[in-house]
Amino acid sequence: MAEDDRDIHPSVAELVRTVSGLARETKGELTADIQRIFDALLSRTDLITLGVPRSSAHGLDSNWLYYDTEIAVSFGKARDTRVPAHDHGTWQLLAVYQGSLEYLGYRHELGDAGHASLEVTTSVTARQGEIIKIGAPPDDVHEWVALEPDTYILGVYPTAFTPVRKYFRGNRLGSGLQTGNKLPSRYFERPETGFGG
Ligand SMILES: [Fe+2]
Repeated sequence: MAEDDRDIHPSVAELVRTVSGLARETKGELTADIQRIFDALLSRTDLITLGVPRSSAHGLDSNWLYYDTEIAVSFGKARDTRVPAHDHGTWQLLAVYQGSLEYLGYRHELGDAGHASLEVTTSVTARQGEIIKIGAPPDDVHEWVALEPDTYILGVYPTAFTPVRKYFRGNRLGSGLQTGNKLPSRYFERPETGFGG
């Protein structure tokens, strides 16, 4: 392959290194450059064959495409059950590689005795090629459900998850919510074991 060809057709490894480096610089701001690299990554039909296995709380067949002490890139298949509202204490970028997601993002405010207040900041259906920004705290609470059986997600996030994650419960969470809706909630904490995503 000629040098020029490599410039025109970067490998998956080059694309992953580029997007992780850009995300590290912008702290997860979804810039035009990051969008462009994501677009190139998400068009790769070989992505599904790459990476090394990782444990994941909410994914199936999930792999690491990149991991260092500051940032990580994961790729995996979504489970067919709703991922309950939870936090990681950090921003994230989630991109739909195949399929679609119903996604809700929340700002949270903790109260006493396990009570919390949630406000919906994002309520979208994300389809193939679309990227979701999960905000930094207090906007880092998120829940989602795959809308199709074979939904695959690419994630970029700092490796500094908080050691304890919070799961939020509430009988009004999870369906038909609009941006700006405010909901009472309760939460419980669970140790972050093995950086599970
Ligand atoms: Fe998560």
